Amino acid sequence: MSIVVDRLSHTYHPNTPLETRALRDITFELQRGAWMSVVGHTGSGKSTLVQHLNGLLIPQSGSVVVDGMEVREKSPHLRAVRRKVGLVFQYPEQQLFAESVLEEVAFAPRNWGVPEAEIPGLVQSSLALVGLDGQYLERSPFHLSGGEKRKVAIASVLASAPEYLVLDEPTAGLDSFSRKELVDLLTALKEKGYGILLVTHDLDIALQASDAILILNRGEQVVRDTPRRVIEHLRGDHIPGLSLPDIVTLSAELHDRTGTVPVTWDWRVLAQAIGEMKR
Ligand SMILES: Nc1ncnc2c1ncn2[C@@H]1O[C@H](COP(=O)(O)OP(=O)(O)OP(=O)(O)O)[C@@H](O)[C@H]1O
Ligand SMILES: [Mg+2]
Repeated sequence: MSIVVDRLSHTYHPNTPLETRALRDITFELQRGAWMSVVGHTGSGKSTLVQHLNGLLIPQSGSVVVDGMEVREKSPHLRAVRRKVGLVFQYPEQQLFAESVLEEVAFAPRNWGVPEAEIPGLVQSSLALVGLDGQYLERSPFHLSGGEKRKVAIASVLASAPEYLVLDEPTAGLDSFSRKELVDLLTALKEKGYGILLVTHDLDIALQASDAILILNRGEQVVRDTPRRVIEHLRGDHIPGLSLPDIVTLSAELHDRTGTVPVTWDWRVLAQAIGEMKR
């Protein structure tokens, strides 16, 4: 079971003076239970790409197939695809609207026609998945912290029982503690079997958490590979607007000088290698 994207291209306002090519020949597969990060500088096509994954945008050329169902105009599967692929937008808290967390999280499953008797249980279990307990049910979503708002927004997507979770820059504007909490939450969801697709500017998060990283530059796929191979690629080929985390640059420098220190994004691995050198 997977999302398969094959040679997907997209041009905004084709054949007009405003024509902008946003994606060109993007190809990848995201399995359930795996985490892929999409990284690229501003305007590289990340949001355009994710909007194709649940049918907000329909492929102009190339294809998107979700668990065997192709995303195309008037497809009888479009509704099922939208339910399977939960999309969390950038700054999701801007979409909060209900008077209570309960009503907020209940909205989507009600919309999908889930029987009313099942809603409270579904709301509670969705909140539990993001680490919020019953005390939050009656609170106003507007009076929560930034990190809690993101969690409520994610819970409200989880309440539709998706199989894939696609998040567009969910860590933007969060402090480092909330960022780590969110990454841990997504890791736990991945382990439960959700397919995770994370859009981020933060190469550090992508390296630490992903099974695969796709790097976009001006709508084109520069590299799609494991974190380790992506680092090798980025060391050899600089991409504008994308810099390696300091820890990677430092370990790479030490690697080149000593030959023993591994190139890594994990400071524990680096600390251990330096410790062993001193012995
Ligand atoms: N609705 C639109 N109409 C016309 N052009 C658009 C539209 N949305 C995006 N674009 C253009 O398509 C290209 C890709 O934009 P997109 O929003 O996908 O990039 P992004 O990687 O998500 O950027 P950011 O990191 O700033 O969110 C950009 O050149 C952008 O100006
Ligand atoms: Mg974007």
